[in-house]
Amino acid sequence: MPGTCVIGLQWGDEAKGKLVDILTEDHDIVVRYAGGANAGHTVVSAGQTWKLSIIPSGILRPAVDCVIAGGVVLDPAKVIDEMDGLEARGVAMRGRLRISDRAHVVFPWHLAEDRLLDGSLSGGGTIGTTGRGIGPCYRDKVGRSLAIRLGDLYRPACRARVEHVATFKNRLFTAWPAGAPEPLDPAAIHATYSAYAERLRPYVTDTTAFLLDAVEQGRRVLFEGAQGALLDIDHGTFPYVTSSNSSGVGVASGSGVPGRWVDRVIGVLKAYSTRVGGGPMPTEQDNATGVHIRERGREYGTVTKRPRRCGWFDAVAARYSARLSGVDELAVMLLDVLGGLDEIRICSAYEIDGQRTGRFPSQIEDLERAVPVYETLPGWRQELDAVRSEGDLPINARRYVDRISELIGRPVTVVSIGPDRAQTILRDPETSGRPWQPQQPVNA
Ligand code: IMO
Ligand code: MG
Repeated sequence: MPGTCVIGLQWGDEAKGKLVDILTEDHDIVVRYAGGANAGHTVVSAGQTWKLSIIPSGILRPAVDCVIAGGVVLDPAKVIDEMDGLEARGVAMRGRLRISDRAHVVFPWHLAEDRLLDGSLSGGGTIGTTGRGIGPCYRDKVGRSLAIRLGDLYRPACRARVEHVATFKNRLFTAWPAGAPEPLDPAAIHATYSAYAERLRPYVTDTTAFLLDAVEQGRRVLFEGAQGALLDIDHGTFPYVTSSNSSGVGVASGSGVPGRWVDRVIGVLKAYSTRVGGGPMPTEQDNATGVHIRERGREYGTVTKRPRRCGWFDAVAARYSARLSGVDELAVMLLDVLGGLDEIRICSAYEIDGQRTGRFPSQIEDLERAVPVYETLPGWRQELDAVRSEGDLPINARRYVDRISELIGRPVTVVSIGPDRAQTILRDPETSGRPWQPQQPVNA
């Protein structure tokens, strides 16, 4: 079976890009299937750092085909910008990059709505979105009447359609109580987007057909998740989530490739927790530990540069995500960041209203009241920069990784101890620890 997928198991930024780059070596096609320019994936390759947002991380390897599938919301300005940046650095994309004609297009009105609506959760909260128009574009997709897909931009009716939607949005903006954006110029938007469409024309195709042919021919496909399972619109910490299925459940809907073609699901975890934007995060450390992690891990957003909220590893959340995403094996990233701490904590259960539980709550009101129950493990002082094999790891670092594996009930097959490809320990899934164990209720 030809498919592998890489899914973030926390709130995004789990260093999925690095792992995808490594796995790309064994695949023919890399697919982005959900989200959009809200993602920020960093890949360090041959001493050079690449920051990718919509274009799959596989683009850095000339032999690999890349697909932006129909589940992605596409801001053409951002894709073109990214393509220009890659081309300027010698990365060729013609014939290798395919963009779905089904992808919904992010328009200026979506960016404006993202700015207008983010602070308006019922109850007054702020999601703290990336401001890339993601939620408003998905809303129009699901609502249908105001949606425009990439394929629509090539049809004669497109001009009338863009003008109809822009005029409608202008009317909505005038009704907005305060801070409404400048009225949109429908003709100018149509002209700009027609130019974008021309630039993208050689890449736009029916990627669902391409991918179904590919899997039936036995080509090896790598599905590159964006965001993390806890930001999933249906299964994450709603409403503090993104607007797509960012957990494993999104692979089939976003790409059009049924889950039966995916035989290896790798869950990616940081050795600690981070979160950007609002929403509950039980293990957050708004203290010296949080600062230690943020500074050592350079935990500032790739897309928005915001400092990320940092905290201890949350095994309750990660176990939930791993089960939800059908994860076979785990990759533990950024282990080096935890160096220099005397003690390291892992949250292995929550206490909610005095009741201990290993279950991740479905309602954020419950998650907000969850008090983490911690286990304390001894830390390590050594820097891990030079570690190249499992045997080089300090014993306490190995114990820490083993404990994560035990609590989640999946083997850890990858341990990352720095941004460089060489700073990666790969372990054979057959011999690297525990097979999948049935869920043990924590402290039952
Ligand atoms: P990668 O792929 C971390 C978060 C935002 C916000 C919420 C909703 O780099 O892991 P949105 O703009 O999607 O409507 O924002 O989701 N968010 C991410 N956090 N990593 C990401 O992507 C994220 N994409 C969205 O901070 O809280
Ligand atoms: Mg990121």
